[in-house]
Amino acid sequence: MPTILAIESSCDETAAAVVRDRQILSNVVSSQILTHASFGGVVPEIAARQHVETINLVIAQAYRDSELTCADIDGIAVTTAPGLVGSLMIGVTAAKTLAMLHQKPLIAVHHLEGHICSSLLADPNLEPPFLCLLVSGGHSSIILVKDYTDYQVMGKTRDDAAGEAFDKVARLLGLGYPGGPAIDKMAIAGNPQAFKLPQGRIPDFPYDSSFSGLKTAVLRLTQKLSPNGEPLPIADIAASFQETVALALATRTIKCAVANNLSTIVAVGGVAANSALRSRLVSMATAHDIRAVFPPLSLCTDNAAMIGCAGAIHFARGQTSSMQIVTRSRLNIEECQSLYV
Ligand code: KG4
Ligand code: ZN
Repeated sequence: MPTILAIESSCDETAAAVVRDRQILSNVVSSQILTHASFGGVVPEIAARQHVETINLVIAQAYRDSELTCADIDGIAVTTAPGLVGSLMIGVTAAKTLAMLHQKPLIAVHHLEGHICSSLLADPNLEPPFLCLLVSGGHSSIILVKDYTDYQVMGKTRDDAAGEAFDKVARLLGLGYPGGPAIDKMAIAGNPQAFKLPQGRIPDFPYDSSFSGLKTAVLRLTQKLSPNGEPLPIADIAASFQETVALALATRTIKCAVANNLSTIVAVGGVAANSALRSRLVSMATAHDIRAVFPPLSLCTDNAAMIGCAGAIHFARGQTSSMQIVTRSRLNIEECQSLYV
C-alpha cells in the first residue's frame, strides 16, 4: 500500500495531503477564496503569489497531521495539468524539489483524474467501469471510466463550465463569489418551478451541454422583472436556475449510463456539492437501479487527498514521471498517460 505525499495548486487552493492507498492520513487545504472574493473571481497573479507564501506551511502541516515524515513516503504526487500555469508551477516546483532532496519518485497527476479519484475516498471498494459526472469551475464533462488511467469523454460543455455558470449567475444576482454555495443557500427559500429556463441541449449530442444561453436567459429575466431597479425575487431565480442545471446534468448523466449499461455513477468536482444536483441524481439513478456515489462535500472542491489517491494508483502500476515534466494549462484527460515515463 503506497504512502504518497500529494500537492495541489492548480487554481486558488494551496493543498497538501498524505494518503495511504485509498485512505486519507492528512488533508490540508488553504483556501484563497476570501482574497479573490473582492475581485469577483480568481486573479491568476495573486493566486500564484499566495501559493508561494503558503505552500511550505501547508506541506509541513500535512506531514504533522499524518504523524509521518518524508522517510515514510513512497512517492510525491503533484497536479501538473490542467490549471493556471503560474499556480501549477508553484506546486510542481515544490514537488520536484522534495523529490530530488529525498530521492523519491515524482508522480504527475491530471487534475480531473484527481477529481474522479475523490469518489474512491468515499467508497474504497469502487471499481471501474463506472460513469463520472465531473462538474467544477473549469470543467463539465461526462466521463466513462473504463479503468483508472483509461478514460473516454462521452459529453462536455460547448461553452461555460457548470461552476462558471453558477459563478456568473451569482454575480448577476449580487450573491458574491464563489457563486455555487451562495446560490445553493439562497435557493432553499425559493420556488424551483417559479421560472422556466432553457436546459441548453445540443441537437444530436445528447450528453453535451451549453450553459451560456441559460446565463443569458437569467440576465434577460432579471431585466424583464426589474426594468427600473425593482427588487428581484432572488431566491426564486436562484432556485429555478439551480433546478434547471441539476435537471440538465442529471438527465444527461443517467441517459448516458443507461445507454452504456453502467450500474454505477459518481459525481465529483465543486458543483457535485450542490444539493439539488445530488437529489436529482439520486432519484433518477434509483429509478433506473443505478448506484450513485458522491464524495463528502469537503472532497468535492479542490484538495490534495484526491491527487494522492490518483498518485497511489499510478505508483502501484509502476507509473512515475520525469523530473523534466512541465505544467500545462490544458490537457485532455484521455491523454493523461502522457504524464508517465
Ligand atoms: O472543483 P473546484 O473546487 O475547482 C475547479 O477545479 O474548478 O470547483 C469550484 C466550483 C466553483 O465554480 C463553485 O461555485 C462551485 O464549484 N461550487 C458549487 C457548490 N460548491 C462549489 N456549485 C454549486 N453548488 C455548490 N454547493
Ligand atoms: Zn478542481
